[in-house]
Amino acid sequence: MAGKQPLNIVKMKRMKKDGEPISMVTAYDYPSARLAEEAGVDMILVGDSLGNVVLGYDSTIPVTIEDMVYHTRAVARGAEQTFIVADLPFMTYHGSLDETFRSVRRLMQEGHAHAVKMEGGAEIADTVKGIVQAGVPVLGHIGLTPQSVNQIGGYRVQGKDAQDAKRLMDDAKALEAAGAFAIVLELVTEEAASEISKALSIPTIGIGAGRHCDGQVLVYHDVLKYTSSYREKKFVKTYADIGTVIRDGITQYVKEVKERSFPAEQHVFSTSASNKERQPASLYGDGKDKVGLK
Ligand code: KIV
Repeated sequence: MAGKQPLNIVKMKRMKKDGEPISMVTAYDYPSARLAEEAGVDMILVGDSLGNVVLGYDSTIPVTIEDMVYHTRAVARGAEQTFIVADLPFMTYHGSLDETFRSVRRLMQEGHAHAVKMEGGAEIADTVKGIVQAGVPVLGHIGLTPQSVNQIGGYRVQGKDAQDAKRLMDDAKALEAAGAFAIVLELVTEEAASEISKALSIPTIGIGAGRHCDGQVLVYHDVLKYTSSYREKKFVKTYADIGTVIRDGITQYVKEVKERSFPAEQHVFSTSASNKERQPASLYGDGKDKVGLK
């Protein structure tokens, strides 16, 4: 967004203190990042949800560090003024700290992320601490952690009883103590998320975690119904239906090609004198040679 100061982790903490909600959305490529930035989002997450919504996998588990670096780099090119967090994918932060550092280094140096996100609670606190001590901001992620879906036994709401709510609270506190700058709470009861948000000095970013988190994050393709067969989710509000717009647009294009009504006279280049007078100086209608040239 023109003239906007990019967010940083110090400002984020201040936003929590001031009660100003933090907006975050995922993006996976140049155009989605650019549009999200133009819309004024505070933070972009290059989520490993790209496995589901972009690469066609049925979970995030097959997503590799190569996939994440490739997509993060494209997002960084599209959103130069926005704080970008990239997911460390499945099993890239459970070995030695040196191995973890290699993955973090790739996301930051090759992908140009400003921070990394990791799924897990107290059990990864030492790793989070090591990364933070190396100067890298870490976004925690607890509640439903999709990389562990096979262990959890499905995409289930977390924190439903007192014992589970306490486990989440302990995990959140362990991540805060390890130096995480904020924590994503995914599919957590509103009551548990509210208690955690109150107990922490760092912001909570909810997805399916109710109204009392310090910020909200949603998946780009959910916000915009950017898919061929959208499945309603209780915690998502859709703000547009671009899947239908895209399908209708391409259907019309195919129809016009088949009936030869596209290209029409205004789309063609010609050497004939009468048409030549109407030729633009460049490929683009606005006379500028590069897309996005200002
Ligand atoms: O990968 C992702 O998009 C996420 C969000 C659901 C928080 O982790």
